[in-house]
Amino acid sequence: MKDSNFLKEHNAKSLWHPMAHPGDSLANPPAIITSAQGVKITDIDGHEVVDAVGGLWNVNLGFSCQVVKDAIAAQLDVLPYYSTFRGTTNDQVIQLAEELRKFFAPDGLTRAFFTSGGSDSVESALRLARQYHKIRGEEGRTKFLSLKKGYHGTHMGGASVNGNANFRTQYEPLLPGCFQIPAPYTYRNPFNETDPERLAQLCLQALEDEIAFQGAGTIAAFIMEPILGAGGVIPPHSSFMPGVRDICTKHGILLLADEVITAFGRSGSWSGSRHWGVQPDMMATAKAITNGYFPFGAVMIADHMTETFEKDTTGKAAIGHGYTYSGHPVGAAAALACLEETLRLNVPENAAARGTQIHQGLLALQQKYELIGDVRGGHGLMCALELVSDRSTKAAVDKKTIGKLQEVAYEAGAMVRVSGPNIILSPPLVLSEAEADTILSALDAGFAAVS
Ligand SMILES: Cc1ncc(COP(=O)(O)O)c(C=O)c1O
Repeated sequence: MKDSNFLKEHNAKSLWHPMAHPGDSLANPPAIITSAQGVKITDIDGHEVVDAVGGLWNVNLGFSCQVVKDAIAAQLDVLPYYSTFRGTTNDQVIQLAEELRKFFAPDGLTRAFFTSGGSDSVESALRLARQYHKIRGEEGRTKFLSLKKGYHGTHMGGASVNGNANFRTQYEPLLPGCFQIPAPYTYRNPFNETDPERLAQLCLQALEDEIAFQGAGTIAAFIMEPILGAGGVIPPHSSFMPGVRDICTKHGILLLADEVITAFGRSGSWSGSRHWGVQPDMMATAKAITNGYFPFGAVMIADHMTETFEKDTTGKAAIGHGYTYSGHPVGAAAALACLEETLRLNVPENAAARGTQIHQGLLALQQKYELIGDVRGGHGLMCALELVSDRSTKAAVDKKTIGKLQEVAYEAGAMVRVSGPNIILSPPLVLSEAEADTILSALDAGFAAVS
């Protein structure tokens, strides 16, 4: 192992970081994290903080989940890899699919298609949606609708349904036939509507309008996050997702729930769809499925879609899609152990309690600091602060201020994530009350330093 001088000296010099400007990474080298325990991470200088980012929304059970580590180590010894492409499978993936079928039964999802992560899961769901309609003879249903502000990963399909210009502009032209409607984002929306329920209705009307304009028979699917995450934690009104479900059903459009963040408890419910009482046609999952310890994902498929694929005799249902690491035995073993532990700990309960504590704490900080334009949360351990330089104009805060705030919060005991004008909090779901307080007090110190 090279010493810390070497690591600091070479930081960001020989690699390009995702979601960062290479020049900026050189000018401001990233924090070097070298170890982690429980919900805390330690950097190269030995500074230990609560990880309010939860890895990247994925380390739901913290960094010391021994059963997942043991499952990975044991599986590496027995069968470190074998493919699940046609003709072969492995014992772990069979068991995992059965466990996922039980876990997602209340969501009406009974088949799994395995992937290597969130973007893969989204891509797979988009592809299977088109294929579903083709098998049924509706070849014209190829378009995708989604929400502005939505984040669906970075593959060409996912980026095309993405609702944020940052992930699109430099990579255009993207997939044709993808259209975004306004998100139920009360702080900023084209209707100037601040009432969540009325805004939800307006967004649903926009969806109906877009479907009428495109022609329902041209649309394969609508994809949405039950609670928008990376776009700045935007929980819709409880009427929104059920309303989307009804509209999709009425027009024969598949509803794809992107639950890469919300599946497995983060929202305070076992899935985001269940949180709103909705059964989607497909669900993209990843991240917490292995507690972030192994790159893995699963698309869950609704029971009612299975006949179309499984009883097809034309050959159109042959799946011409998949990844070398689909159903990886080590990932499957990790997911099996992770699912059992997630259930044993009943994580949604703590996610809801700590989520409420943090949300209340953030609302109190808003009373104290003018910089906080909007506080979003109230549904499990996913919260955001949107910072503004002027509350009346809602002008975004400058990068330097938010950077300084993050730095001071880190010194004061918490790693928080900055994304544009937003501070996003997505700590592990096993966070304690005292650790939640540490996050709030670190933020308080950060705001005090820049106010
Ligand atoms: C809702 C959602 N979908 C898809 C993705 C992409 O997942 P990955 O980064 O594992 O490819 C993410 C990642 O944050 C996400 O939040």
